[in-house]
Amino acid sequence: MLAELPHWLINTLSPVNRWVHMVGSTLLVGGVLFFEFVVPLATTDLRNEQRMAVFGRARWVFRSVAVLSVVLLIVSGAISGWQVWSMYNGLDAFTGGWRYGPKPWLAGHVAVGVIGFIIVLRVTNTVRVAPRPVGWLRALLVVLLVSMFLASVARHVRLRVDALRVSPQSPVIPWEGE
Ligand code: HEM
Repeated sequence: MLAELPHWLINTLSPVNRWVHMVGSTLLVGGVLFFEFVVPLATTDLRNEQRMAVFGRARWVFRSVAVLSVVLLIVSGAISGWQVWSMYNGLDAFTGGWRYGPKPWLAGHVAVGVIGFIIVLRVTNTVRVAPRPVGWLRALLVVLLVSMFLASVARHVRLRVDALRVSPQSPVIPWEGE
């Protein structure tokens, strides 16, 4: 189906969609970093109730950014998944099973990303500020970074196995034999 689209359209939509995915992850991770490091630092001299009030207000701003990022990530991620899926299937046929291709890494990426969405919506959507917002944000940051790492591995495995498929002489480990 993708092959039926004109080349100029694929070559325009693909990088734009990847860029949107990057923008979504940058906004989300950047927002969490701001919330975790800047807001607590800027409010250290305040009393606990005042700190919570500032957290509450900052959380409202972060909430819009987070919702926008989650929507961008889901839409662009679904388009990316649709784009790479036939290639993933081709790689499975080459490696002899989905376990050896990029699918488990992509599944991990999406699963951990969804856990991140749940945490971000929990942190930003409750009526009251969570008792330990910084603890949740720290967990969220780790979850998002793990999700991004799994995406990097999925992409690497996809490109490496594809290179091997095109040229079987290509070394299994890229730096081997260089
Ligand atoms: C429903 C959720 C998501 C879906 C369906 C999704 C889907 C995808 C897909 C299909 C890819 C391409 C993998 C490949 O190149 O083989 C990808 C890459 C990526 N995703 Fe996601 N993703 C989601 C959530 C997230 C989240 C929450 C983050 C950020 C924390 C994120 C950050 C990235 C990054 C950094 C890449 C690597 C892009 C690259 O190097 O080309 N994604 N994602």
